[in-house]
Amino acid sequence: MSSPPAAAAVGGPFQLTSGDGKTVTDRDLRGKYVLIYFGYTSCPDVCPTTLQHVADALTALGSKAADLQPLFITVDPERDTQKIVRQYAAAFSPQLIGLTGTAEEIARVEKEFHVYAAIRRTGSGKDDYTVDHSSVLYLMGPDGGFLAPIPADEQGKEMAGEIASHMS
Ligand code: NI
Repeated sequence: MSSPPAAAAVGGPFQLTSGDGKTVTDRDLRGKYVLIYFGYTSCPDVCPTTLQHVADALTALGSKAADLQPLFITVDPERDTQKIVRQYAAAFSPQLIGLTGTAEEIARVEKEFHVYAAIRRTGSGKDDYTVDHSSVLYLMGPDGGFLAPIPADEQGKEMAGEIASHMS
């Protein structure tokens, strides 16, 4: 393990595709706080639990939630098509945007955010795999700069409080 990256080194330019087929770049999100989570839609437990916490946090934030854009970026672009990420994200919150991309685009954004993601084969079929991945939320500021990591196991209210403390 290398030492934790300096705050300034987390994040960077990205270009991905939303569930409705729109290109979304980091620049499109300037002016809003952005909460980014990396995961995949067939994740058995951590991803759905975390995204439910995010949905609860949006509710707990009340009117402040309008200044926050939550993103779900897949680490499984092979299976997580635009349609799948759209449906998955919408199941948690209408505000949550699901993003996918080419394998290269996803690899680049994972690298920028120091996300660990590794395929673990579970059988011989094409889709027989899970993806081991780091589970951290990244809070980015309106200028696109990294503000803080948010623990994925925080409950919604706790998460909302931590996010709000960075939003004043
Ligand atoms: Ni997961």
